[in-house]
Amino acid sequence: MVSFLIVYGTDEGQTATVAEYIETVLTDRGHDVTTRYVTEMSDSIVDDIDAVLVGSPVINRKHLSEVVAFIDRNREALAAKPTAFFQLSFASAIPSDWARDGAQEWVDDLIERTGWQPDRVGLFAGAVKYTRYGPFTRLFFKLFSAVTTGDTDTSRDYEYTDWDEVEAFAADFAALAERRGAVEAPQTGTRAATEQERESVITEHKHESQPTKHDRESTPTERRRGRRLAEIGLLAGFLGVVYWLVRRQSFRQS
Ligand SMILES: Cc1cc2nc3c(=O)[nH]c(=O)nc-3n(C[C@H](O)[C@H](O)[C@H](O)COP(=O)(O)O)c2cc1C
Repeated sequence: MVSFLIVYGTDEGQTATVAEYIETVLTDRGHDVTTRYVTEMSDSIVDDIDAVLVGSPVINRKHLSEVVAFIDRNREALAAKPTAFFQLSFASAIPSDWARDGAQEWVDDLIERTGWQPDRVGLFAGAVKYTRYGPFTRLFFKLFSAVTTGDTDTSRDYEYTDWDEVEAFAADFAALAERRGAVEAPQTGTRAATEQERESVITEHKHESQPTKHDRESTPTERRRGRRLAEIGLLAGFLGVVYWLVRRQSFRQS
């Protein structure tokens, strides 16, 4: 049995749903899985886990800052274990090369910025939740959807996640972690995470650290302010994407 930690951030809940689905796939294989929202956990948990999956949506062309902060804080611990990153985006719902390349570039940027190289990467289509968006976001997604997916009925939500893809990703990562021999060591009550760690099993459990500011839940006012900023940023962000895509296409044609 391998112990897995799934750490995720989410704006509208779809990444949480994917994290839960991955948890089901891993537990069905007989593994021990802990799933945590990134700001509601202590980093020290990472030390006692064999393999880690980190998930984030793309919001305004970026991964959630709290997820990036988690990776930054735990870079060394992550480098010593089998790890995977999964990303949810609208770009991955668009069946074209430019959108696929764009989705990949967000991950490339993350790897470059943090220096963390996950063993596996999953690029999943997310969801468009019109019924939860404010007026700006709803209008923007309606306009952008009109020229991409065609899904413009704002009275309902659209889910694009391909659950077979998520399952295949989770199973592939589980197989990798199993191959690396991340097995439980019942005599010591500890678990080895990698080939090297199996040779020198950690025998000390670390104490839970004090919650950091990242562990604190946002207040409703902070969330409202954040959403308003996100809506304004979304407009600017998608205009930036359109500009970038147009430039990219003209560069390719020239
Ligand atoms: C405010 C906002 C900004 C977004 N920005 C992007 C973006 O820049 N690129 C993209 O591909 N998808 C973007 N999306 C789509 C999300 O990545 C997608 O809806 C995802 O499923 C959200 O996951 P969550 O429900 O876990 O927050 C954005 C969504 C919202 C609500």
